[in-house]
Amino acid sequence: MCMYISIAYANVIELAQSTSEAGLSLDGNSSIIKRLVALTVSVIFYLQASQSTKNQGPSPKPRFYGRAPFVTICCATFLLWSWSFLHYSANEGTRMHPLDGLLSAASAQHDAWLQQASASRTLDECTAEYRRRYKRPPPPGFDAWYRYATERSSVIIDDFDNLMDDLQLFWAIRPAEIRKRTHLAFGDWNEVAKLSIRSGKAEIGPEVKPTHRWMLDGVMAMMSNYIDKIPDMDLGFNINDEPRIAIPYDDLQSLLKASAIGPRTAKDTVLNEFSKDRAASWNFSDSSDTETPNAPFTDQSFLPSFHTYGSISCPRSSRARRSYLWDTRALCTTCFAPHSTGIFLSNWTLSASPCHQPDLAHLHGFYLSPAAFKPSHSLYPIFSQSKAYGYADIRYPSPWNYMDKAVYAPYPNASDQHYDPPFSEKSDTLFWRGATSEGLSRFGEWQGMARQRLVHLANNHTSSTFYPIFLPNLHPQKQNQEEKEEPSYSLHTIPSSLLPALGLGPTITDINLVSKIDRCWDADCPVQAREFGLSESTDFQSHWRHKYLVDLDGAGFSGRFIPFLQSRSLPFKVAGVFRE
Ligand SMILES: *[C@@H]1O[C@H](CO)[C@@H](O)[C@H](O)[C@H]1NC(C)=O
Ligand SMILES: *[C@@H]1O[C@H](CO)[C@@H](O)[C@H](O)[C@H]1NC(C)=O
Repeated sequence: MCMYISIAYANVIELAQSTSEAGLSLDGNSSIIKRLVALTVSVIFYLQASQSTKNQGPSPKPRFYGRAPFVTICCATFLLWSWSFLHYSANEGTRMHPLDGLLSAASAQHDAWLQQASASRTLDECTAEYRRRYKRPPPPGFDAWYRYATERSSVIIDDFDNLMDDLQLFWAIRPAEIRKRTHLAFGDWNEVAKLSIRSGKAEIGPEVKPTHRWMLDGVMAMMSNYIDKIPDMDLGFNINDEPRIAIPYDDLQSLLKASAIGPRTAKDTVLNEFSKDRAASWNFSDSSDTETPNAPFTDQSFLPSFHTYGSISCPRSSRARRSYLWDTRALCTTCFAPHSTGIFLSNWTLSASPCHQPDLAHLHGFYLSPAAFKPSHSLYPIFSQSKAYGYADIRYPSPWNYMDKAVYAPYPNASDQHYDPPFSEKSDTLFWRGATSEGLSRFGEWQGMARQRLVHLANNHTSSTFYPIFLPNLHPQKQNQEEKEEPSYSLHTIPSSLLPALGLGPTITDINLVSKIDRCWDADCPVQAREFGLSESTDFQSHWRHKYLVDLDGAGFSGRFIPFLQSRSLPFKVAGVFRE
């Protein structure tokens, strides 16, 4: 135990050091304070340990720490350890914390991305760059798009990778077939809304539910500036938050192969215009309905979706498709190792992949029990606001941010409650408010959902005096270089009295579920209400009072991340499964 505490403490000291360098901690810079903290911690620990000796009373079999001399030795060791680490960090201030390495790598990656995203200076350069990157000419109207983007100082002129990835599979299908599948996907039961564009005007299909109309209104608002440039066509919008199209691995490979053929148009016949009379090709007379197969979607709401859809696009040999039974009480350290450096997430892209993470089946509402889920295993062109890894929906920017649903609109005067003050004047709080909307809980699924887990961790961690932390397992390093060992870590708890040294002391978490427990059945409603306690719902503009804002996955896209980024607060995008 002492060993662990010592190591935990060593970790604490390192973190305190790095946070103070990043300017986040209170007063970590003074080594005297650190020494005082070390001393205090040792004394507190000594007191706690001897307290537990007293409380045990006359036990027939005293536990190993039940002996005062042992406690003393233990704590002396601890003191020495901590002192030597202090000494170490004082003398070798250049020793880098893993987070510093990750921060500088991420910053370099960001700069490089930005540079390639807006490399071109003219339309000609941009067109040439498009041909070079994507091996096909840009679509008709690219010049209008270029003007539109540059007039608005878009930082993305050249990078269409996300968009190309989402559209890639459709190059494997004939255009007439794409139109037919679009037509088949429409419908109230299918929960796909129709948007028709004819002669530069958009019209919303009749079957859109009033509750979801804002979504299509948002799409129209987004398109209004350039709708006259969009050719006639029908588009199918997913009215659910959850994505829809998950293609099994083998089918996906054939589609990818078929789609890789490249542009169908020879270079010299490229025209900068769409074909005439497109509207006629979208005419599906009622007679074509006779050969309409059953609805392409199945209702999978409230059912576990990880193995049937979530990981279906992973290779059969992948861990996610081999491991079905899972001990949900154990932390799967090898599941997060591939996308982590030590205990820290280091590859955000890879972290979204379920293929190496069978434990995700039990750790997210979308995989445990999605509230509205009508998916298909076949390729249909469905526009969604976000999708999880492996899904083949076509992403588009969420209309949420265009419809005043959650906007960054702080009050203008410093005296206002909802003013957005400079960072240093904000309260030292890590803030989150939200609903239990990630998935629907009937049989205790809520215990695995990310939102509930966060709230529980912040407010109801089983013991109020201990805090969870990852520690590397102590084992001798394997010398054999060939045999790359996955790092192994275990979750341990450290006394919360150590938290000030982590730089977390004065940061108060203000993390709560609001108003009522949503998306639950029967006993799962009162059980959650009892477990979490609920707070009043708050004005969205009250976020700006807090220094740190958590943005956590719900049932799909995040409605808050953009306003969070606009504010003077520091948002944390808690690595989720959805990508927008
Ligand atoms: C993250 O993982 C992906 C997929 O394995 C890989 O292509 C990419 O290079 C990795 N990125 C970094 C920064 O390591
Ligand atoms: C969990 O914490 C919340 C907020 O502090 C509280 O209202 C609730 O009663 C706690 N739950 C339990 C079971 O202690």
